[in-house]
Parts: sequence; C-alpha cells; structure tokens
Amino acid sequence: MAFLLVIAGHQTTVNLVANGVHALLTRPAQLAAVRADASLIPGLVEEVLRCESPFGIATLRYTTEPVTIEGTAIPAGEFVQIALLAANRDPEVFPDPDRFDVTRDASGHLAFGHGIHHCLGAPLARLQAGIAFTHLLRRFPALRLAAPATAPAWQDNPRHRGLLTLPVRLH
Ligand code: HEM
Repeated sequence: MAFLLVIAGHQTTVNLVANGVHALLTRPAQLAAVRADASLIPGLVEEVLRCESPFGIATLRYTTEPVTIEGTAIPAGEFVQIALLAANRDPEVFPDPDRFDVTRDASGHLAFGHGIHHCLGAPLARLQAGIAFTHLLRRFPALRLAAPATAPAWQDNPRHRGLLTLPVRLH
C-alpha cells in the first residue's frame, strides 16, 4: 500500500505535469488559448491525461475464462496487457485522436484505468496538475522550450510515459 501511494502517485503525476507543459509549449495556439482563459485548465488536464497519458500499460491481468475480443480468442489463464494509450486514441471514441485539443470532450479516457482498480489518487492527481499548470503559466509569462528544434527524449519505459528531460527558459 505504501508503494502504491508513494511510488504510484509520484512518477505518474510528475509525468502528467511535464507531458502537459511539453504539449503546450510545442502547440502555440493551445498555449495561447489556455493563457487567455484559465477556465480551460480542467480541460487541459483531461486532454493531457488522454493524449499524453503518463501511464502506458495497466498492471497485468489474466483471463479467468475464455474471451473473444474483436475476433481474437484469448483462452482462460492467459496474461493480458491493456494498452491504455491506444484506448485513449481510439478514433471511434475521440474524433481525430492524435490532435491535442484542450477544448475537446476528453471524458471517457482510460488514463486512470477502469473498474474496481480505477486509480485511487485520480482526484489528487487532477488537483495537483491543475494547480501546477495554473501557477506555472501565471508566474512565467515567457515560459518556452530552451531548445525548440530538438526532439524530446522520452523515457524507455512502456509503463510510465514521460520525458527524460524538458529544458525550458523561464524568463
Ligand atoms: C497522473 C497521475 C496518475 C495516473 C495517470 C495514474 C494511473 C493509474 C492507473 C492507470 C491505475 C489502474 C492500474 C490498473 O488498473 O492496472 C492506477 C491505480 C492506482 N493508483 Fe494511480 N495514477 C496517478 C496518480 C496517483 C496518485 C497521486 C496516487 C496516490 C496518491 C495513486 C494511487 C493509485 C493506487 C493506490 C492505485 C491502485 C488502485 C487499486 O488497485 O485498487 N495514483 N493509477
């Protein structure tokens, strides 16, 4: 339980904030929209969770009975990996899913999982990210990427999706 609360709640939220800052600083129109209207912050948090989700793969599940999904038969007792990132970019649920848009309805994303194991810390993570985005943008009006032409370096980790570094200029 300590592991879940301290570790599960740390790296994920770090990545949520950093992925969100990166998403905004690479999309000037979205950044301008959020700077102009702070009421877009909750939508920003949900869109970062959907489109730049910090948690790539749910914890391992296994089938308790045979199940067929989209024509693929999975026997009982098989391990199953659930790709949350793919679900969050399902075009049948989110039109033009690769487009990052803080004004879209991102509800229904699976960034916090689903069902009885839905993230215990979801309200805290949403609160933390909203506060972080609000105060970063308010305190640093000139916030920008330090090396805009450089491709970001992502962690090589299928579970946690986050940047290795995000060099920015504050002033
Ligand atoms: C952006 C931040 C976060 C993301 C994206 C995230 C994501 C997730 C996901 C996807 C699950 C479900 C895993 C599964 O079903 O296999 C989960 C479960 C969990 N999360 Fe988070 N989490 C975040 C923040 C936090 C925080 C801040 C805490 C605690 C303070 C926390 C504690 C937990 C715990 C205890 C579980 C297990 C719940 C259970 O199995 O019943 N998480 N999280």
